[in-house]
Amino acid sequence: MIDKATIQKITDAADIVEVVSDYVHLVKRGRNYMGLCPFHNEKTPSFSVNSTRNFCYCFSCKKGGSPVNFIMEKEGLSYHDALLHLAAKYNIKVEEKELTDDERRQLNEREALMVANEWAASKMQKALRDTEEGRAVGLEYFYQRGVTEEAIKTFRLGYNPDSGHALADAARLEGMDRGSLIAAGVLAESQKTPGVFYDRFRGRVIFPVLNPSGKVVALGGRDLKGGIAKYINSPESEIYKKSNELYGIYQAKSEIAKQDNCFLVEGYMDVIGMWQSGMENVVASSGTALTDGQIAMIHRFTDNITLIYDGDAAGIKASLRGIDMLLSHKMNVKMLLLPDGHDPDSFARQNTPEQFRNYVRDHATDIIRFKAQVLLKDVGDDPQQRVAAIQSVVTSLAHIPDKVKRNVYVQECSRILGVSEEVIEDAVEKSRGGVVEKQMMQRQKRDIDRMDSEEANPQPGVTGNLRPMKGNDVLAKYPYYPFEKNVVYNCVRYGMLDFCEVEFEDGTIDMLNVAEFVAEDLQEDGIWFSFPAFAKTFNRILDLKEEYQNARVAFNVGLEKERQSLLKAGYDEIAGKAMSVAEIKRDERRLEESIGEEMSKRRFEFSRYFVEQALSSHHDDDVRRTVTEAINDEPPLSNIYLRNNPVSERQMELDRMHLLVPRGVLEWKNEVLNQMIRSKMAQLSNILGKTDPETEQKLLLETQALMQKRGELAKAIGDRTIGKKIRNV
Ligand code: CTP
Ligand code: MN
Repeated sequence: MIDKATIQKITDAADIVEVVSDYVHLVKRGRNYMGLCPFHNEKTPSFSVNSTRNFCYCFSCKKGGSPVNFIMEKEGLSYHDALLHLAAKYNIKVEEKELTDDERRQLNEREALMVANEWAASKMQKALRDTEEGRAVGLEYFYQRGVTEEAIKTFRLGYNPDSGHALADAARLEGMDRGSLIAAGVLAESQKTPGVFYDRFRGRVIFPVLNPSGKVVALGGRDLKGGIAKYINSPESEIYKKSNELYGIYQAKSEIAKQDNCFLVEGYMDVIGMWQSGMENVVASSGTALTDGQIAMIHRFTDNITLIYDGDAAGIKASLRGIDMLLSHKMNVKMLLLPDGHDPDSFARQNTPEQFRNYVRDHATDIIRFKAQVLLKDVGDDPQQRVAAIQSVVTSLAHIPDKVKRNVYVQECSRILGVSEEVIEDAVEKSRGGVVEKQMMQRQKRDIDRMDSEEANPQPGVTGNLRPMKGNDVLAKYPYYPFEKNVVYNCVRYGMLDFCEVEFEDGTIDMLNVAEFVAEDLQEDGIWFSFPAFAKTFNRILDLKEEYQNARVAFNVGLEKERQSLLKAGYDEIAGKAMSVAEIKRDERRLEESIGEEMSKRRFEFSRYFVEQALSSHHDDDVRRTVTEAINDEPPLSNIYLRNNPVSERQMELDRMHLLVPRGVLEWKNEVLNQMIRSKMAQLSNILGKTDPETEQKLLLETQALMQKRGELAKAIGDRTIGKKIRNV
């Protein structure tokens, strides 16, 4: 963990020209440098380095960014390790471990827990190989269960010695924070002799649980001696909610996206067994029923899930439990039963990887078909049970959001259950109303919970969209994506610049910056960013204002000093030349003007580049990525325009900002109206002639009102004039 001040030191010291020069031969071109892009093969240089903005980018492949981002991409390092890399280059001392007790206490709980878990997992990983006991007991156990070296490495499997004080001793020696290790459930205090601490996982093999970004959030320890507790797991904490983690997600995520399918199994060893059989797109719910949080995590990578269960009665029952929830998440669910008495781990050991894969391919069935068949088999001739079974299938069908898909299943279930399509369809549509309402309430609650917890624990790289979504997918999920992107990009470019005055009703006047103007304008119509990375970035930009104002005061003080000394030097030089009083007056006026112009330019650039300077090295992947892309995507000012017009570059930028910022918001609003109108029209054509004239008339009027509003908006986009905004408070 690197403290904020040191991060600032590193990002201040890192010079983009120097950093890039370690990899690329740069040639000066005007104010910038150019070279061959280190991220893709090319013969003519398209990699540009801007030393004023401390930023680099490739015109062709669009990679680049701040020095930290460049190193992350080039060296494949995490944010943290890229900072260490730069710190080493610039001889900046990073005291990660030797924090004072006070500073240590100030580390927030999350970070401390992450550090404790990572430390413990590494120790246990080492103990598996570097100690006699680790090899004889732990490693031997894994070998006997057929676990390969590769899997041991990939899943970071470990061993905690049986003595009970191996980790406790190491923690003391290395000055690890005992409180965090206790909170993480690695150590515990002896009840009999308070003040004595012991290892909780003693004599167990260890399965570290990694979150999607590869951070250890918990440990699972399996008993080897036939004790009472087969597994001990880390306690729930700030970083670990058992029901929200999926074991194996970090190792599986890219393969899940690539295969566009995710296997779900029960246990640690099942994940490893599947993985070793070449099905790497596998995760475990760790013995509990699937939760909304886990489904949402899988859904970031794929729409398709295959549940794998033991073919015994308990397995079948378990498999039917989570179905409705999966269906309402719009997942396509398949189900695979292994031969009676087998779990994936044992099946993998009795079959070759190829046999296993073939079995999976041949036996996966659609979940609803499966459910209908299983239920029907159980009921026999009892009519009451038969009705209950049908109702249960109907309830599942009602959870499918897509009508077309629902109808396909209605047909199929009608056949399996021997009930007419009409009857089933009728029952499904009746039950659907209740389901939709329940889902809406659950969704609202979830959104609120999520907003609360995201505010409290920002998780770098986890909230964003990790699945390589196709353009259509993005639009289906976030229909205003391009408009949101345009607006957030404008705010990265111009966020802190003054935009317009607001006049309060009491007559006082305040200045809104670009980001604030956008926020107010959006809120006026109840619109906000839906794409998570954009929402997060925009909020960070809004948060910058205070920091910006303080920094600007300091900047202006420095600038004023410089102005004074430049003026003094200039006056002296003029006085040194023997000239008439009139000539002296004229030269002094010119001097003042040119220095004044230079100062305005510098002040402008300070504000103009403030957002990108503040956020292009931000620790949050979503924010840093959005900001980097916004800068890369920036259209250059036209040189031709510049040559033919006597205006300054600053003036051009300001003109462009005043044009583009409000237009971006208006275009977004216009699209919102478009979609509202489209849906009203669809409603209209559905009810036309089928309902009373009053309802028809009402809908017609509503549609017309929307269209009129759109007309006004179009006019506003055409002739934009921004004057004072009147805000009612
Ligand atoms: N589990 C757990 N805590 C427990 C019991 C079980 O977290 N006290 C989780 C583990 O993820 C475990 C899974 O539930 O892997 C399935 O439990 P079980 O079938 O009992 O264990 P197996 O994984 O089959 O273990 P093994 O094959 O080593 O007996
Ligand atoms: Mn097992």
